[in-house]
Amino acid sequence: MSVLEIQHLTKRFAGLVAVNDLSFAVKERSIHSLIGPNGSGKTTTINMIDGVFLPTEGKVIFNGVDITGKPTYEISRLGLGRTFQNIKLFNTLTVKENLMVGGQMFYAKSNILRFLFDIPGARREEKALSEAADQVLEFMKMQDVADKTVGGLPYGMLKMVELARTMMTKPRLILLDEPAAGLNPSERKQLIDILFHIFESGVDLFLIEHNMDVVMNISHNITVINFGSKIAEGVPKEIQNNPEVIKAYLGDRYQKQA
Ligand SMILES: Nc1ncnc2c1ncn2[C@@H]1O[C@H](COP(=O)(O)OP(=O)(O)O)[C@@H](O)[C@H]1O
Ligand SMILES: [Mg+2]
Repeated sequence: MSVLEIQHLTKRFAGLVAVNDLSFAVKERSIHSLIGPNGSGKTTTINMIDGVFLPTEGKVIFNGVDITGKPTYEISRLGLGRTFQNIKLFNTLTVKENLMVGGQMFYAKSNILRFLFDIPGARREEKALSEAADQVLEFMKMQDVADKTVGGLPYGMLKMVELARTMMTKPRLILLDEPAAGLNPSERKQLIDILFHIFESGVDLFLIEHNMDVVMNISHNITVINFGSKIAEGVPKEIQNNPEVIKAYLGDRYQKQA
């Protein structure tokens, strides 16, 4: 069974085909990576999966449901979480508050009328959100930064906060756009540990990543794209030894390290 199926996805921007008839499937209980050169259409693919962009052609099936063209909040409620290539957090709020905001957008039981007329209900909801945030922070081993303002935190920690916020929506699958970019080696190791921890808790992962140590370490399956089209797919060993992938993307870089 697949948790996510991409069927013949195409995205055209004026005069440019960013993604071209792309199909692949993310198996249930797997970590799947999408790799390829800069500008090959990776972020555009994620944007079509989570409803930021409407595909020009093709379908996205999540958990057996056709989610093509659904708004992002609805897709998020169906259990699909996402982190961004450019971090999107509220800098003046604390880590815990950022998680609570992320959770509230997800649960969204209250509206303005409820806040005005059902104060006990709103308080109960805030308490539930606060408890959910505490649980996620504990799971992520981030209790010590809970009350720190996001604006002052190092970049590696911001990426962890974004991932933690995604966990507030109780996702079935998380899409991660370059989670290791900008991280130092020790932060990278921490990231890999936490990604495994999240995976083991029952969440499948789909990531775009340039760091080949991370990709080859954690992926069960890899899809490679170039100029918006799929050029290879397989387990890490197959991808590392695929001549077309080496030519288009890996070059000598990974070969030397391997
Ligand atoms: N909103 C947009 N409007 C026009 N062109 C875009 C837009 N987003 C991406 N592109 C173009 O689509 C191609 C693929 O971009 P992107 O998906 O960001 O690549 P990657 O994430 O693989 O580096 C690039 O040529 C990029 O310039
Ligand atoms: Mg990108």
